[in-house]
Amino acid sequence: MTDLAHDLGLLRDLERRLLVYKFAIEELMTKLRILSEEFDSVHQHDPIEHITNRVKKPEGILEKLRRKGFPLDLDSIGDWLDDIAGVRVICPFVSDVYRVKAMLARQHDVEILHTKDYIAAPKPNGYRSLHLIVRIPVFLSDRVEHVKVEVQLRTIAMDFWATLEHKLFYKYDDSPPADFVGELMSTAMIAAQLDERMESLHRRIHQD
Ligand code: GTP
Ligand code: MG
Repeated sequence: MTDLAHDLGLLRDLERRLLVYKFAIEELMTKLRILSEEFDSVHQHDPIEHITNRVKKPEGILEKLRRKGFPLDLDSIGDWLDDIAGVRVICPFVSDVYRVKAMLARQHDVEILHTKDYIAAPKPNGYRSLHLIVRIPVFLSDRVEHVKVEVQLRTIAMDFWATLEHKLFYKYDDSPPADFVGELMSTAMIAAQLDERMESLHRRIHQD
């Protein structure tokens, strides 16, 4: 078989297997929407501004497996990659980020496998967000699958910074040129200060 035919076959197989990741995202989206609406109705404050999600494209999955030297074995892709399913939760305030994490963690069918707190410890370029790898059961017609989803929680200010940083520097595989690093870090600090000042206004207005 040619490489191309092999890759096409692999892609088609992979597409079928990605369905369960779409279901896991749908379940998590429902959980998050319920938390958002119910918390708002009890506390008159919605801890979620908006939510986006994506399933990684088959081409992207194969590329990442190759790049990282992982086996191209479809039965085990979920063992190697944590970010096939991704949900991004944008919150108004930093306290909401941790509040949403705590509310998810209390749910019996949500396992939090890993947490990376880039808010407590930002990346060297200034990137801040709270990353969770969660696992949730998806009930299919003949079996239950436990599916991993990468959840990125961040404030509007963190999302503003990360979105623009990605737009500016996505073409650099590694880090951007050295003379950009200081400037980038300083813009991230401005975003962090904005979060702090907005949070303190929120606390003064909304004492809960
Ligand atoms: P990947 O191999 O890219 O998944 O990285 P990782 O396994 O070290 O995970 P990490 O939690 O550090 O990052 C996962 C995701 O977070 C990335 O795919 C991006 O969506 C986001 N992210 C991490 N670092 C940055 C950053 O410096 N800038 C931006 N804009 N996004 C970032
Ligand atoms: Mg990733």
